[in-house]
Amino acid sequence: MTPAVWHGCYGKPWGRLLVREAYSHPGRYSRALIQKIYEHLKEQGYLLPGDSVLDLFGGVGTGAMPAIALGFHWYGVELNPEYVRIANQNFDLWQRLGPHRGSARILQGDSREDNGLLPGTFKAAVASPPYAQTLTNAGEGPGARWDAKHHRPGNSHKISSRRDYGRDPANLANMSARRGRHGEPSEFERNATAVIRETHRLLRDDGIAVWVTKDYVRRRKRVPFSDNWEALCIAAGFRCIGRVQASLVDSRADQLDLFGGRHNRDRQHKGHWRRAMEEAGAPPIDWEDVRFFLKAHEPTGNSPS
Ligand SMILES: C[S@@+](CC[C@H](N)C(=O)[O-])C[C@H]1O[C@@H](n2cnc3c(N)ncnc32)[C@H](O)[C@@H]1O
Repeated sequence: MTPAVWHGCYGKPWGRLLVREAYSHPGRYSRALIQKIYEHLKEQGYLLPGDSVLDLFGGVGTGAMPAIALGFHWYGVELNPEYVRIANQNFDLWQRLGPHRGSARILQGDSREDNGLLPGTFKAAVASPPYAQTLTNAGEGPGARWDAKHHRPGNSHKISSRRDYGRDPANLANMSARRGRHGEPSEFERNATAVIRETHRLLRDDGIAVWVTKDYVRRRKRVPFSDNWEALCIAAGFRCIGRVQASLVDSRADQLDLFGGRHNRDRQHKGHWRRAMEEAGAPPIDWEDVRFFLKAHEPTGNSPS
């Protein structure tokens, strides 16, 4: 299946559509990307106004913004109570900005477990998982947990900068990605599977799951996180029906320089750290993946190993 490529999914700031504290979340959705995903689901007939949608990695609730504007009822579950509080502040803000046909609700809970949501009721699940070991700073660049090298005292208002962030052992970002000696699933994969199965259980039989993931670099090698995530979904009873690469590189139209010469300059939507690493020879990560899955009745693949 050749992936479709979407452009123009980055570089549109949330601005005042989020409360200030929401910017402390290290893994928020891009505003343009999440908007496009919901519009696509609506255009393709996967979602009708009034449908309920699910996000088991709710974060600060940014996924709810386009959902409620398009008339859907968004339900999120988020482990970190501070993010739940901030998400509720965002919802209050959007309520003040204008009447919406949809609604948003977030629960504090562990998405590996049953949080009391009604099984078989959600028409779509749109979510973005954390990476393994981001909180332990085992990877390339700054992790989400405070460390002296990457976080300055000026950042200390950020939740992600506090020393105790991420100590919760239930946070997937805190789990090891190391597979067993004989290829047994890692701690991260076992626990991610629990969340994917919960998504499967909560979706209607004609439901669709959409996952936003991105490959990353560890020890100078590209980790195929999106393909690994897809394998977990297939093993948990989903069938992949579409792949999109949301490009992090937008080519700008030819620009004239002072002397009339033409230049085609790319605009890269990447953080400073990533750009510096790529300039120093690390493999480039040029897109986020958006993958679409239908709920299959039976698990359709072998357990990932
Ligand atoms: C990539 S972020 C999602 C951010 C969200 N899309 C947003 O824009 O705010 C992943 C989220 O999953 C949460 N998380 C990690 N483990 C979890 C678990 N076991 N149950 C529920 N949430 C969890 C993290 O706290 C984090 O906020």
